[in-house]
Amino acid sequence: MANKPGSHKRDLRDDGRDRRRRAASLSRSRTGDQCPFRSVCPAIRTGCRRARAGCPPGIGYAALHAPRPPAAFPAGRGATLDEDSIETMTDAAAPAREKRMARDYFFPTPVYYTDLAQAQDLNARLVADIRAWRERDPGGTFRSNVPQLGGWHSATDMHLRVEFTDLTREIFELIHGVFRDQGYDDAYEPVCDSMWANVNPRGAFNRHHTHPHALWSGVYYVRTPDECGLLCLTDPRPQAHVITPYFDPGRRSAHTWAEVYYQPVAGRLIAFPGWLVHSTHPNLASAGRGTGGAGEAGAKSATGEEENGPALERISVSFNFRQRRKGVAPTDAPAGEVVRKDLSAK
Ligand SMILES: [Fe+2]
Repeated sequence: MANKPGSHKRDLRDDGRDRRRRAASLSRSRTGDQCPFRSVCPAIRTGCRRARAGCPPGIGYAALHAPRPPAAFPAGRGATLDEDSIETMTDAAAPAREKRMARDYFFPTPVYYTDLAQAQDLNARLVADIRAWRERDPGGTFRSNVPQLGGWHSATDMHLRVEFTDLTREIFELIHGVFRDQGYDDAYEPVCDSMWANVNPRGAFNRHHTHPHALWSGVYYVRTPDECGLLCLTDPRPQAHVITPYFDPGRRSAHTWAEVYYQPVAGRLIAFPGWLVHSTHPNLASAGRGTGGAGEAGAKSATGEEENGPALERISVSFNFRQRRKGVAPTDAPAGEVVRKDLSAK
C-alpha cells in the first residue's frame, strides 16, 4: 500500500489496516519471537514472517529483517550479501574479523545535481530577462535575501511567465527524474507552485532558511562570477550539533560532515529536500577576477572599471515542488500550480 503524502497520522492508519489484513492471512505463521527487532516492530504483535513482504510500509523494517552477516566478514570495507550491500568497519578499525561490526546509515539527505547542456544560450537569455524583470519590479520580494545589501528576490511566479518556460521545462524533466529515483508513487506527479530569481551583487547573500511546504527545492545558476558565494547545506539533524567529536582529518568520512558546500557554476542545477537548511555565502566577486557571465566582459579594477557593477552580480533561480495526484482538472487545480503538461500549452 502506498503511503499518503504529508500526513504521518495517515501513514500509521494505513499501516494499521495493512497489519490487520496481514494478521488474518498469517494466522498460522511464526510469531517472530526470534526477530531481534520484536521490541520495536508493530507487526510483531500480529504475526511476522520476517520477510520483506511482511514488513510495514514506510517504516523500514524490511532492511532490518534482512539477513545479517555472520561474525566473520569478508575482508575489506564491505560485502554484498543477499540483496543488501552491507558496509562493515575497515580492517584498521577492527583488525580481528570477529570484532568487525556492520555499519548502516539511515535517514540520509539526498542531493542531486547536474550541468545543463547548451546552458550558455539559455543563460544569456535568462540574464537579460531577469534583469528586465528587476527593472520593472525593483522592490522585489523579501525572503532570505538581504535587500539592504542589494540582494534582489523576484516575485515567486516565475514558473507562470512565458519568457522562462524553457528553464521551467528543463527543471520539470529533472525533478520528474528525482521523483522516479526516490520511488514515489506513480499516481502522483511533481507540481511546481513557486519559482523565483535571486540577484546578489557584491556583498549580498541569502540567510539560512528552508522552503516550507516544499517536498523538493533547488537552485539553478545563471551567472556565477568567481568567488560569488558558495551554496551551504547544513546537517538538518539539530541533535547532531549538540556534541561534535574530534576527527582525524585523514580518516573522516563525508557522512560526518556538519556542513557541505557546493560551488556555483553557471548551468548547474542542484536539487535537495525542501526541509534542508541552506544559505549562500556572501558574494565576494571582485573586479579583475573572472565574471563567469556568458558573453560578458570581466570587470577590471586596474583599468578603472566599476567595482560593483552588473559584471559582479550572482544570478540564480530557485524553485519548489510538491506531489499532486495525477488527473486534476485544470479548473480544479489551485491557482499558481503547474504540472509538466501545463507547459506544453505555452
Ligand atoms: Fe532557498
